Amino acid sequence: MKRTMLAALGLATGFALPAAAEDIKVGLLLPFSGVYAALGNDIEAGFNLAIEQFGSETKATFEIVREDTEVKPPVALGKAKKLILQDNVDLIAGIVSSGVLGAVRDMVHGAGVPLIVANAGNDEATGADCSPYITRMSFSNSQINRPMGTWMHEQGIGKVFTLAPDYAAGRQMIDAFTASFIAAGGEVVGQEFTPFQKTQDFGPYLAQAKASGADAVYVFYAGGEAISFVKQYDSFGLKADLPLYGSGFLTSALYVNAEGPAAEGVITALHYVPTIDTDANRVFAEAFTAATGRVPSEYAVQGYDAARALIEATKTGASDRETLANALRQVSFEGPRGTLSIDPATNNVVQPIYVYETVAGENGLTQKVLAQLPAETDPANGCVMPPIAN
Ligand code: BEZ
Repeated sequence: MKRTMLAALGLATGFALPAAAEDIKVGLLLPFSGVYAALGNDIEAGFNLAIEQFGSETKATFEIVREDTEVKPPVALGKAKKLILQDNVDLIAGIVSSGVLGAVRDMVHGAGVPLIVANAGNDEATGADCSPYITRMSFSNSQINRPMGTWMHEQGIGKVFTLAPDYAAGRQMIDAFTASFIAAGGEVVGQEFTPFQKTQDFGPYLAQAKASGADAVYVFYAGGEAISFVKQYDSFGLKADLPLYGSGFLTSALYVNAEGPAAEGVITALHYVPTIDTDANRVFAEAFTAATGRVPSEYAVQGYDAARALIEATKTGASDRETLANALRQVSFEGPRGTLSIDPATNNVVQPIYVYETVAGENGLTQKVLAQLPAETDPANGCVMPPIAN
């Protein structure tokens, strides 16, 4: 729109105007405090790296306004309102918690502000509550866990006990795993949901798992809760008799070294591991480590790909809320985790899933890929994609 106006002015005055640079105002809505603060910081580092690496490919420039969700849905909703109504952002990127995504969904959809989800896997945001303004560059909770139910049963595991924090992500991840594990012929012999952000002692739950008769335990924990859980699981002496499996956030490269030897032998699934053996991943990993001193995690790559998607969208000339939302739904590129595209039926990213074991490496713990499971689109889960309002 702004570019069109300048072009029109050029014609009217008879002067040729240089192509204008669009300034895109981006609200970066992430947890910079609370239980997922480290995740938010890694996403931001990945986001900034992509702007630095690919920003010159577009005429657009980016102004970033950061807001801290504190992993609290009401706080996040207030911050989203501020970004949209006060800062007048063109687009929001970020969101780590499924609970926060659920809280801000109606706000961004109603205001027609594009949202690039850079972590939160809430199935409903690309299911029954899908929106043409919400494009997810991270994963859906089902997408990560569904293949693991089938894969674990194929490995000869018949009975599992499951554990996860009691909020949307924990419930959706375990539901997806449970459905596919049972469909494959497995049995879930026990299931507990632990109070989110409040559980410090997992002992009572681990005692239940031990007494359940399960062959293995399957869990979702992330951030600080993952570190505590993995350490307590090991110190309870469960690992040898009751192998630990889960979604790969449990042993993320971001904090696996804080878990230490307790994480060795844990088998999990994720859409990205830093050991993916491709040129695109090697280039990214080297640049990320040079910039931050850290091995890149799934959170870092999600931030990186979110910014990359934004850059790709602006390369089509998109610059306002509507054209950005429309262009984001159509991005596709080769990134560190493989070939990425967006499923137009749901706006969720389509990507392969990697099953990996955490093993000791030369420089600390590392990820040994055991299987690459093919990229599949999520079922629509009730998504009837509304048109973009004019
Ligand atoms: C979520 O709430 O969707 C989530 C949080 C951390 C890691 C993975 C998923």
